[in-house]
Amino acid sequence: MAGGAVSIAMITFLASALVLSSIPEVASTSPSPLIKDVCGSTAKEIKALDPKICAETLVSEPRVVAASNLVSMSIALLEAGISNATKTRSYVQKLLKRRGLKPDYKYVLQQCDGGYENFGWSFVSALGEVKEGEYDTATYDIKVGYTDNIDECQNALSSKNVRDYAISRGNDFLVLIGEVGFNTVNRLPSDYL
Ligand SMILES: *[C@@H]1O[C@H](CO)[C@@H](O)[C@H](O)[C@H]1NC(C)=O
Repeated sequence: MAGGAVSIAMITFLASALVLSSIPEVASTSPSPLIKDVCGSTAKEIKALDPKICAETLVSEPRVVAASNLVSMSIALLEAGISNATKTRSYVQKLLKRRGLKPDYKYVLQQCDGGYENFGWSFVSALGEVKEGEYDTATYDIKVGYTDNIDECQNALSSKNVRDYAISRGNDFLVLIGEVGFNTVNRLPSDYL
């Protein structure tokens, strides 16, 4: 009888150990405190930004997940933006090589191609500036990078009534990265203090 009780206790113990051991895997796909922090802080400044969607989006970026402080987070956000813009741009450039594109579609692709190029230049500059501790210049470049350039592409899509989900998803991501990146770099302590 005692043996039976012990083995039931044992099974219960093993079962709960099994459940507990699976928790870290679940935790790794949920937003880190730092991701929640930067999304929450940005949402306070930008009412249209949903902190939950922000966190869900950032969780899919390994370098952002790995960031451990506001400086490495800033760098990770800028790198994620550069990478996404570069990939979305090569998608656009592939489409631009096609023959017989409708003029409207070609116009949209050209606007987006130029927009991603300029986004890239601004974000590469900002990345260098963050690494040098020049945070004021970096926030300026981030703002320039994600506002007008992505607007150009997005406005071309809507004015010509073109639907391209890969481009739209890229634009949504780049704007989010720009907003969170701007807010995060803006929180870094300035050298002048
Ligand atoms: C850019 O990021 C968004 C959001 O994660 C994603 O949906 C999209 O596929 C990415 N674009 C490329 C070309 O990787």
